[in-house]
Amino acid sequence: MENQNKMHSEAVLTNSDLSEQIKAVTKDSHVRAENTELMLSYQRGQINLPQYKLLLCSLYEIYQALEEELDRNSEHPCVTPIYFPSELARLESLKRDLEFFYGKDWKEMLVVPAATKRYAHRLRQIGKDNPEYLVAHAYTRYLGDLSGGQVLGRITQKSLGLKSGEEGLAFFSFPGVSSPNRFKQLYRGRMNGIELTEEERTGVLGEAVLAFEFNIEVFDGLQKMLSETENDNNTLQRHATHSKLDNGV
Ligand code: HEM
Repeated sequence: MENQNKMHSEAVLTNSDLSEQIKAVTKDSHVRAENTELMLSYQRGQINLPQYKLLLCSLYEIYQALEEELDRNSEHPCVTPIYFPSELARLESLKRDLEFFYGKDWKEMLVVPAATKRYAHRLRQIGKDNPEYLVAHAYTRYLGDLSGGQVLGRITQKSLGLKSGEEGLAFFSFPGVSSPNRFKQLYRGRMNGIELTEEERTGVLGEAVLAFEFNIEVFDGLQKMLSETENDNNTLQRHATHSKLDNGV
């Protein structure tokens, strides 16, 4: 373990590519994100409709903030190289998925945990005060969506019994990216071309760890909301059974 940590920090110190550094500093956070209860249910193929619908609400809030800030800062020298709205933007896909699952009044039905609000707030704040940090957030979400996210899409489809190409899964589909691996290579190259002072680079790396942290907190918040509704439903069911018994049914 100590050896691993040593190798870790050496990789950070010896390789000056931002894409390598960001991967190295977020390695442990990635493991923690994969091991949140929500992501574990995913990996067991146990995602259900209430879970997925609630996740979509939070993703909508997150991508709305992220993409508004990327759009607003698209001319910023630290944003332009990694600005790929037609290939990556998720907001329109999320709107379609939400309308499919919640109906046309979906906007009034959005429910998110406090952690999602905090994440969106951070995105808007750095969009205003430190646009050079946006790369950390764009990396965390978009490269994740193009990596493990592709597996999660297939699991969602299977678990919810949706047919491939059917509505409800637009979030996972990137029609403008023909090869996720090649696109990730291009994206890493663009990240590496961003000019950052040492102080800014340290800030971006810290922000990437924070971005993973926000995601972990959102997943934990969603899981908590889901288990609370499940408990409520169980209580309601128990009450219903009791009153049936009370009535001699
Ligand atoms: C990369 C799996 C959750 C962010 C990857 C890769 C896999 C993977 C297989 C490719 C690694 C490589 O190319 O070297 C998973 C699984 C997850 C999960 C199974 C959960 C079930 C997440 C979450 C996030 C995330 C929640 C962040 C919100 C990333 C990022 C990369 C990545 C940013 C790109 C790493 C890089 O190449 O620099 N993931 N992931 N992943 N994942 Fe995940």
